[in-house]
Amino acid sequence: MKLVILLLAVLASTQAGVYLDRFKEQYKKIHDASNGYFSKEGVPYHSIETLVVEAPDHGHETTSEAYSYYLWLEAVNGYVTGDFSSFNEAFANLEKYIIPSYQPTLGGYNPSSPATYADEKDTPNEYPSALETGVPVGQDPLFNELKSTYGDAFIYAMHWMLDVDNVYGFGNTQGQCEAGPSASGPSLINTFQRGPEESVWRTIPQPTCDTFKYGGTNGFLDLFVGDNSYTQQWKYTAAPDADARAVQAAFWAVQWAKEKNALSQISDTVSKIAKMGDYLRYSLFDKYFKKVGDCVGKNACPGGSGKDSAHYLISWYFAWGGAMPDHGNWAWIIGDGAAHFGYQNPLAAYALSNVDELKPKSSSAVEDWATSLARQLELYEYLQTPEGAFAGGVTNSWKGRYDTPDSNLTKDTFHGLFYDWEPVYHDPPSNRWYGMQSWSTDRLAQYYYVTKDATVEPILKKWTAWAMDNIILENGDFQMPDHLVWDGVPPEIHVKVDIHTHEIGTASATARTLAYWAAASGDTAAKDFAKQLLDALYKYADTKGITIPETPDMYNRFEEPVYVPSGWTGTYPNGDVIDSTATFIKIRSFFKDDPDWSKIEKILAGGDIPEFEFHRFWAQTDVAIAFGTYGILFDE
Ligand SMILES: *[C@@H]1O[C@H](CO)[C@@H](O)[C@H](O)[C@H]1NC(C)=O
Repeated sequence: MKLVILLLAVLASTQAGVYLDRFKEQYKKIHDASNGYFSKEGVPYHSIETLVVEAPDHGHETTSEAYSYYLWLEAVNGYVTGDFSSFNEAFANLEKYIIPSYQPTLGGYNPSSPATYADEKDTPNEYPSALETGVPVGQDPLFNELKSTYGDAFIYAMHWMLDVDNVYGFGNTQGQCEAGPSASGPSLINTFQRGPEESVWRTIPQPTCDTFKYGGTNGFLDLFVGDNSYTQQWKYTAAPDADARAVQAAFWAVQWAKEKNALSQISDTVSKIAKMGDYLRYSLFDKYFKKVGDCVGKNACPGGSGKDSAHYLISWYFAWGGAMPDHGNWAWIIGDGAAHFGYQNPLAAYALSNVDELKPKSSSAVEDWATSLARQLELYEYLQTPEGAFAGGVTNSWKGRYDTPDSNLTKDTFHGLFYDWEPVYHDPPSNRWYGMQSWSTDRLAQYYYVTKDATVEPILKKWTAWAMDNIILENGDFQMPDHLVWDGVPPEIHVKVDIHTHEIGTASATARTLAYWAAASGDTAAKDFAKQLLDALYKYADTKGITIPETPDMYNRFEEPVYVPSGWTGTYPNGDVIDSTATFIKIRSFFKDDPDWSKIEKILAGGDIPEFEFHRFWAQTDVAIAFGTYGILFDE
């Protein structure tokens, strides 16, 4: 009898570990140096492969997104091993390389006059966009509070992108400004600046610190902003969904460390992430701190004061910059009036307003995040289609210039914000990709799992049913929805799935969403569906992770013209010339030395787009996290 019980116990314990074992296996591959996920400095690359063009325009760039996934991966590893030191190491690397240390003149910032207004234009060809000093802007209610909390004029936030191998050669390594191609180490860099039609194929990468050493007479500044004269300056842009994901990772690290009696191991790191959450409030404000709600007409819509310029949603970016020290003592900060539902993170807002370890120190921060949490939950309701999927987002600034919206958008506004089916970018439309659905709903499901907030239950029930109806599971394989097509305006919006693809990261994020939903609601069909998705993914395991070849549909755009005003000329550090004959490849000649370049040559010669293998850090870690989460939730 005893023996039988013992045998059962042994069987049960091996059974119990299948998904945690798969986590460990995937984790090991991600950390296997021969696979190349990390640089020599320990920075996670956007992908192993270098010829990758999507939001980053090179695979060995990295993003704040990748860092946020890295933190989350290490939080799960902490749960699995009981040792959270790798979580601390991930954050130390993040802080060292992607929170810009060089912000020399932020002390000269005047929060009563945060930035000078410039229109966003519809197409890149309309840039530079002239600064307009006469357009009213509001007051920044955060700066002095943050300065008094932390004792300095500094923005503690991640810049969104690093050129990890310094491929462009600007050499904006931490604390340095245009140290050039010989500088070793990750270099801060930026891309998009020219409105919704400026896809990666049409953008002009530029340094985050511009002393006019590269580019043209005025560095890169006069490509974007029209002014009478130009001042050497530094500038950074945050992608707030990534900072919010870092907070979300910290939330789980705190929960799991408490379970493992290991909270003291991570308390310093967690308090720094709470500090990030304090500054992350900049994402909740209108671009020019104008009053939020029915803000129509750049001259008519007044500047805000106090918090009336907050929409309380996690917007697409916030940005900050200033003069180089020998050239002036001024700085600027902008928020963003446009919010995509896909960026919302109710779990992060909950953590920053309800979890003691993560409550930021500034006096109004907890209240701001509590307001944000409620507003985000309302947004999901506002944007949900009868089918279940969520439509784009809302904006306080129609067309990025406080234009008059079409009349169909002014009836049922969201707190005076206008519905936008494709906030911020149009090439491709920002809400076409299914991934926004799984990313955001995953956080909503985690929030529901943690709080059992009854208002969220019907929303998730509808979404998960839609997702399960539209994912194809067949013969142990899967096809995810990829392109979504939208019709109508709230409250009458509808969605259709256009094409399906074999996408790794959206499959794992969906599996995790369903797993959290199932664990909270007892929906066994959702649990089973999640399991099937994870099992289908696991079939593609190889030495590098989960590998599924893909055919990137835009890789015929390497010779696409990049708009440069006629007469403007400049150079990149490697000598590539930027002028009105610029194309994507002409200003990125380094791709011609890439191991995959011959594939592009064949496409450019008229061939079909061949298959590529990409190992994106975010997707591979997302799979690992999904395995781990399933194992943790269901003990399987
Ligand atoms: C609103 O109306 C405009 C003008 O008729 C139309 O072009 C647009 O597609 C409509 N918007 C939506 C989201 O249906």
